[in-house]
Amino acid sequence: MPYRTIIEPFRIHTVQAIDLPTIEEREAALERAGFNLFGLHADEVIIDLLTDSGTGAMSSEQWAGMMRGDESYAGSRSFFRFEKAVKDLTGFTEVIPTHQGRAAEKILFSVMVSEGDVVPNNTHFDTTRANVEYQGAEAIDLVTASEPSEVLPFKGNMDIAALRASIDQAGVDRVPLVMMTITNNSGGGQPVSMENLRAVRAVCDEYGIPLFLDACRFAENAWFIKIREEGYADRTPKEIAREMFSLADGCTVSAKKDGLVNIGGFLAMNDHETSLQARNLLILTEGFPTYGGLAGYDLEALAQGLEEVLDENYLRYRIRSTEYLADKVSAAGVPIVQPAGGHAIYIDAKAMLPHIPPHEYPAQTLAIELYRNGGVRGVEIGTVMFGRPGVDGAPDEPAAMELVRLAIPRRTYTQSHIDYVAEVVIDVAAGASEMGGYRIVEQAPWLRHFTATFEAIARSK
Ligand code: F0G
Repeated sequence: MPYRTIIEPFRIHTVQAIDLPTIEEREAALERAGFNLFGLHADEVIIDLLTDSGTGAMSSEQWAGMMRGDESYAGSRSFFRFEKAVKDLTGFTEVIPTHQGRAAEKILFSVMVSEGDVVPNNTHFDTTRANVEYQGAEAIDLVTASEPSEVLPFKGNMDIAALRASIDQAGVDRVPLVMMTITNNSGGGQPVSMENLRAVRAVCDEYGIPLFLDACRFAENAWFIKIREEGYADRTPKEIAREMFSLADGCTVSAKKDGLVNIGGFLAMNDHETSLQARNLLILTEGFPTYGGLAGYDLEALAQGLEEVLDENYLRYRIRSTEYLADKVSAAGVPIVQPAGGHAIYIDAKAMLPHIPPHEYPAQTLAIELYRNGGVRGVEIGTVMFGRPGVDGAPDEPAAMELVRLAIPRRTYTQSHIDYVAEVVIDVAAGASEMGGYRIVEQAPWLRHFTATFEAIARSK
């Protein structure tokens, strides 16, 4: 096409109204929620960028699939359609449906990981880490070090020397599997290169350790390989995705991301023995192996979603629409993790609010201001989420980074919604020096970010 504008490759078929709460209503909502954005009702939010998980729009073909759903308890047609789609994409021989990603993780780690083990990953997602630690094992992150502002094509890559060193240090018998998260969500939604996946595979082969992918965003990762890695420009996203999966022994997938569904996930692998144990656990916690906690219609929508997500027009638009937001805000001087991630941009609150120390939660402060001023809901990924509470009144131990993630639901918002978000971010950033931090009023002993309540320390806005 001779024109540069990359359009949304769909037209809108069903709409949901967005209420436009006033600033007074948003102030009241913040007070009620104790300044925790997880406590807001969705109707109080104008643009909801809390997560890209399960928040996208399904296509008319997916909804047609929902009507075709076969609700047999055992051996439904829908299961076989789903199984075929997953096998065709991943090449794995054993396919186990689950209701979402963390259920697949829990089952995999229950079967493969024991107390005292070590599980390396580029960066564990929080539920993945929690499920490893729940088995009494250690979850270690080995992503290649880089500065947030540094522009590199594959910032999700694993440090191969560090992988080798950590296997040697733990002892190979204590490393039951290596995981790679594609794209690397907790590290800025950054992709992993095929070259790096191959290098990780080679180390796993050398030590005889299985490699599993946390492949929620496999299609976005495949697109980054196509546009950034030498030798892949002429390959289709599906061919690239297949090659990525062919380098692994199995995967866990939250289909709420690149499965383009609102609920669903799966665990897949080649090892038959392990899959039998996993299916036994599945029956205990999720359901019979041909539905795994999902309805037949969910399996249909998922099978269809796995095909649609690999469409080049879709992926070109998807990756460009995230980059479009990143370009707009960084052109105005807003510091973000560079380059844009696949599913989200990550604003660097440490750089934006240097006068607010980590224990006064600069990223939480920024997230609150984005909501207060523009009704935009993002999520704090900083000391509230990953710091450790101070003991006996001491300040919290800070997290490595203070980020606000704005995650973009798939096929849901238009370019003018994103223009609006950019305007809000730029306007709020202009008032950065006037913002004051927060203190925690109440918090839970773990995963405090979901329920903690806050109060302002000093705020002029
Ligand atoms: N792995 C990664 C990389 C994820 O991003 C998520 C979910 C999961 C596993 C767990 O999947 O939610 O279906 O159980 N990430 C969401 C997010 C919640 O907002 O980033 P799940």
